[in-house]
Amino acid sequence: MSQFKIDSIVAAIEQIPTLPKTATDIMDALDGDDVNIERITELIEQDPALAVQVLKFANSPFCGTIHTVSSVKHAIVVMGLSEVKSLLMVFAVQKFFDASVVDNDNRKRFWTHSLVCSHIANYLSRYLQRPADDTVFISALIHDLGKIILDQYFHKEFLEIIDYITLENSSFKEAEKVVVGLTHYQIAAKLLKQWCFPQKVVMQVFYHHAPWNETEFAENAAIIYLANILTKMAGYPCLAEEEEIEMADFAQSKGMARLKDMGFELDADALQALLANVLALLEDDESIKTFLG
Ligand SMILES: [Fe+2]
Ligand SMILES: [Fe+2]
Repeated sequence: MSQFKIDSIVAAIEQIPTLPKTATDIMDALDGDDVNIERITELIEQDPALAVQVLKFANSPFCGTIHTVSSVKHAIVVMGLSEVKSLLMVFAVQKFFDASVVDNDNRKRFWTHSLVCSHIANYLSRYLQRPADDTVFISALIHDLGKIILDQYFHKEFLEIIDYITLENSSFKEAEKVVVGLTHYQIAAKLLKQWCFPQKVVMQVFYHHAPWNETEFAENAAIIYLANILTKMAGYPCLAEEEEIEMADFAQSKGMARLKDMGFELDADALQALLANVLALLEDDESIKTFLG
């Protein structure tokens, strides 16, 4: 891969504009010292499509609510402010990129993969009794953002990557290295940094395929790594062309051995049980069928 190509991709990423003002307005309202739920409810209700998505999300079985959530205010209480904030930020990112979508099916598949991964990441954090950390949710939601950047700004190369995967039966990251010399996690990390996302989120996204190489936020990155794999196993790959992962293979994989070294004691049976739990929750989840559709 020529350095010229890498440099030109980096230069193109630097040209991507900042997020629109509406997104930053919501962020500012949520970032203030005394966050006003009424004000945030009002902001969300101004955009009916957004309000519907927030309600669907709050009614997901992964949120564990017993009664139907039918108002935005109730949804904020159920989800918690930081989760609402993360979700709104991702809606803004989605709007930003999907304004001129090239392949709608692919994009829907992408966002569904992202949403399922965020649900599973939250579920895993609770299941593995990790300390609550808001950044896991948003990092999981945007972990593959680099793929959208490639699809949107380097579409020809993106199609070449897909062809390479299909022809060589390779992983996405191997194909990316061959075709553009940069991976989707490197590309995403660059843009997220540019957009001033917290360092923790940037690093968790950057290491979602190799959390054992992270030093400070390895545990969270490992949760996203695992959530990403379970998402694929549950039938929600990011791309239609992606190779299926078998549980038996994954349980014996180098990646899983490294996770065990990091303290994630999950054998094949435990992983299988986890997947079964996740599948049961997904079955009743209305939010994923129409999320960002
Ligand atoms: Fe990825
Ligand atoms: Fe992914």
